[in-house]
Amino acid sequence: MSTITRPLAIGVIGTGNMGARHALNLHRYVGAARVAALCDTDPARTQAVAAQCGAPHRFDDPLQLISAAEVDAIIITSPDATHADLALACLRAGKPALCEKPLANSLAESGRVVEAELSLGRRLLTVGFMRRFDPQHRAVREVVASGELGRPLLYKGVHRNASIPSSVSGEVVLTNSAGHDFDAMRWLLGQEAAEVYVLGVRSRDSFSPETRDMLLAQIALRGDCLATIEVYVAADYGYEVSAEVVGQRGTAVTLQPDLALTRARQARGVYVPTDWLGRFQEAYVAELADWVEAAKRGSIAAGASAWDGYMALQVTDACIRSLRSGAPAAVDAPARPELYGG
Ligand SMILES: NC(=O)c1ccc[n+]([C@@H]2O[C@H](COP(=O)([O-])OP(=O)(O)OC[C@H]3O[C@@H](n4cnc5c(N)ncnc54)[C@H](O)[C@@H]3O)[C@@H](O)[C@H]2O)c1
Repeated sequence: MSTITRPLAIGVIGTGNMGARHALNLHRYVGAARVAALCDTDPARTQAVAAQCGAPHRFDDPLQLISAAEVDAIIITSPDATHADLALACLRAGKPALCEKPLANSLAESGRVVEAELSLGRRLLTVGFMRRFDPQHRAVREVVASGELGRPLLYKGVHRNASIPSSVSGEVVLTNSAGHDFDAMRWLLGQEAAEVYVLGVRSRDSFSPETRDMLLAQIALRGDCLATIEVYVAADYGYEVSAEVVGQRGTAVTLQPDLALTRARQARGVYVPTDWLGRFQEAYVAELADWVEAAKRGSIAAGASAWDGYMALQVTDACIRSLRSGAPAAVDAPARPELYGG
């Protein structure tokens, strides 16, 4: 794609919670782009979002949106199970795409996406691991890179979500939610996982027997580093994420981006957001702005690549095997292809 000087025309596939947020963020905060088209299998949703961001074209078939001449680049925010096929269609159309995490619903599917991008020979896909654009996570990464902590020894991730449907299995949590933590671990440490051991419990008797909403992953990395990741998706009190790197000489941990200290009802406190949309709003806008600029220049966005999406799913896949077997599971670490900086 040669450099585009007019606002980049974006098509958004899936206008539920995340798609609506991306469309509105583009409309309000990313002047270099405009929302040109929306697609959802539920036309009422595209209609509601179009009313707020003025998207002139609406589709109910995502493949039509991808091939539409009016669309330069695509955001994929439909359910996880649709991601791989839609990412493949964007590659076939030769259009840049920001695909929400996970890149695919399984390791095998994500491998097919990476193979297709490798065959194309140029990078068009970015995966929506927005923590890479979160100021708190970036600050921790800078401290680690500065060498101030000495050699990193341990990554500690905590990921709490207020509530989930009562029947969500541990495998879905590992695929849909924990990928963020696996990517943050890889990105902050610059190391790949070697082995995982995952335990999961059900936090409430009222949940389905197969539900594992509190998961604890212990991970050994290939650079002689360890990680522990707690993913608790029915934490009730709100949504919170933290990431800490413990090094030989100190630690760095993300601060919660609190805006005010409240004194009320005989207590001092800070507000805890109910979901990710508030906590990571700054990151979502920065992620979009970077992706749009890169797409306009025909260059590579700073966000996670298809390879990163695939490697996160390598960890997810091993975690699922460990959860099923109750034993540690090895994580495959194929060589990083040249296209992805290998
Ligand atoms: N990066 C993040 O922080 C973050 C946060 C939440 C969700 N997500 C990801 O974003 C995606 C969407 O999540 P959500 O919470 O917005 O879900 P949602 O259910 O609110 O929205 C999904 C939308 O996609 C539509 N849809 C379903 N099948 C479709 C198809 N084949 N073509 C077009 N539209 C289709 C649905 O009608 C719905 O409107 C998921 O993959 C999820 O993992 C990422």
